[in-house]
Amino acid sequence: MSKIKVAIWGSGTGSNAKNIIQHFHESDRVEIAWVLSNKPEALILQHAKDADIPTRIIGKEERENCQALIEEHRKLGIDWIILAGYLWKIPAALCQAYPNKIVNIHPALLPKFGGKGMYGHFVHDAVHQSGETESGITIHFVNEHYDEGNIIFQARCTIEQSDGPADIEKKVRALEIQHFPYVIAETILS
Ligand code: GRF
Repeated sequence: MSKIKVAIWGSGTGSNAKNIIQHFHESDRVEIAWVLSNKPEALILQHAKDADIPTRIIGKEERENCQALIEEHRKLGIDWIILAGYLWKIPAALCQAYPNKIVNIHPALLPKFGGKGMYGHFVHDAVHQSGETESGITIHFVNEHYDEGNIIFQARCTIEQSDGPADIEKKVRALEIQHFPYVIAETILS
């Protein structure tokens, strides 16, 4: 049986990508086949190179016109796309080419604290300022609207009164590392 091929898209440090790559390293069902980033200097690309996984830079113009990029995914036989800290909006054409085959992780409990501009520390700052007593992660399918696709999985953490945004981020990141690879496995293998 041929393996399910997965591409990971990201813009940042790639801690989730690294974790996912390690998780599936010896899998006979799933192959992390490609890692893409809009930022040439992003650490996520280094994690891919360390694991001998091919990489590609996503150009600015491909935010609008991504037909060639879609073709390349198809040629490589990519079945699923995982967004792990990818900051640009996903082009509508890609959503149409991969319906319910693109999965994102968001560092808060959607539908709260989602949407345009809600990424990285902005999310944790907003959660902190709101006085919420819990935060967490949301893993969801991607559609043409930021953070609005169907939710696959959520995990929660408690926020203590003394927690600042950095403490919240630490708790949320721990949940990401703990759950994301397993949720990916369950989603793409079911
Ligand atoms: C994570 O917090 C993820 O939830 C969000 O972006 C961050 C990416 O971090 N979408 P990393 O690049 O995986 O370290």
